[in-house]
Amino acid sequence: MTDLSVNYLGIDLSSPLVASAGPLTGQLDTLRRLADAGAAAVVLPSLFEEEIARVIRDQERVFATSSDSSAEALSYLPEIDVDPGGVDRHLRLVTDAKAAIDVPVIASLNGSSSGGWTWYARALVDAGADALELNVYSIAADIHDDPREVEERYIELVSAVRDAVRVPIAVKVSPFFTAMANVAGRLAAAGADGLVLFNRFYQPDIDLETLDVTPSITLSTSADLRLPLRWIGLLYGRVDASLAASGGVHTPEDVVKVLLAGADVAMTTAALLRHGPEHLTVLRDGLLAWLEARGYTSVAQMRGSVSARAGRDPDAFERANYVEALLRHATHTEPTSWQ
Ligand SMILES: Cc1cc2nc3c(=O)[nH]c(=O)nc-3n(C[C@H](O)[C@H](O)[C@H](O)COP(=O)(O)O)c2cc1C
Repeated sequence: MTDLSVNYLGIDLSSPLVASAGPLTGQLDTLRRLADAGAAAVVLPSLFEEEIARVIRDQERVFATSSDSSAEALSYLPEIDVDPGGVDRHLRLVTDAKAAIDVPVIASLNGSSSGGWTWYARALVDAGADALELNVYSIAADIHDDPREVEERYIELVSAVRDAVRVPIAVKVSPFFTAMANVAGRLAAAGADGLVLFNRFYQPDIDLETLDVTPSITLSTSADLRLPLRWIGLLYGRVDASLAASGGVHTPEDVVKVLLAGADVAMTTAALLRHGPEHLTVLRDGLLAWLEARGYTSVAQMRGSVSARAGRDPDAFERANYVEALLRHATHTEPTSWQ
């Protein structure tokens, strides 16, 4: 009998398959289907500290600083009403989710100010959340933003929430730090029990017909897995926190890869939106088949065995392999117009 159990944020899970925050975790019927299909834990959609308004302001700043023709650039801003009942409904979702399913429920908080975060963090825990995921969604678009100060704001938020609640805390981070490993270590030191790598930023597009900025979300593919894969491979065993892979987990092979790199759990949203909650059974069956075919009796046996720490090729996740990859590509492809 192959043992799929893992520990994430100090919580024992029956498998490494976690449904990450998204529309399917926001409703009780789909939450039940996710749990029935094998989600070992679920992350509820984020409670936005200022709801949608914050995202809109971030976009405004990005475009205001990057465009000379401000009239055109700013006219795209849609009018969005902030739903005053949203917070109450969200807290009720936490309570109802706990009652409806038998797996850990992780509540997610997306905000910016310490005061707001700690208040909402306590409210989510009081509503029944087993753990919290803090999603720091902010765009450092002001040219006066100092990188160290931006990082310090993140660290302070984590410390503030750490002081406010007793449940485990994960931090869903952006990949856009100059020194990612250093930030990861400092977040863990500030009290993060886990890091979710990575936050997939909403990226605005421009409609060439209307010249509007179109607020659309593009679903990931397996190709997006490379970014979390690298950083999990680099951070495994080097940072005192659980690691969750988020972004591009679509197939059983993707799950196997992030576990080999050192992830404690593989999170997935886009694949479940494309194929339905029952896709979790495909991921689970595929993971089991891969383990059994190679004689592994548990996930623990193989986890991290292809990380930088495991030492088979310590440079493989870093720059050295870049040159090798380029050379290999050059010898395997026909000359193209730029060569
Ligand atoms: C429609 C949609 C809604 C999402 N809502 C949230 C959210 O409320 N909070 C959050 O932290 N992430 C949210 N995400 C991001 C996912 O949790 C996940 O990190 C991202 O989609 C990358 O993982 P994937 O490649 O498995 O989709 C959302 C993603 C999608 C597609």
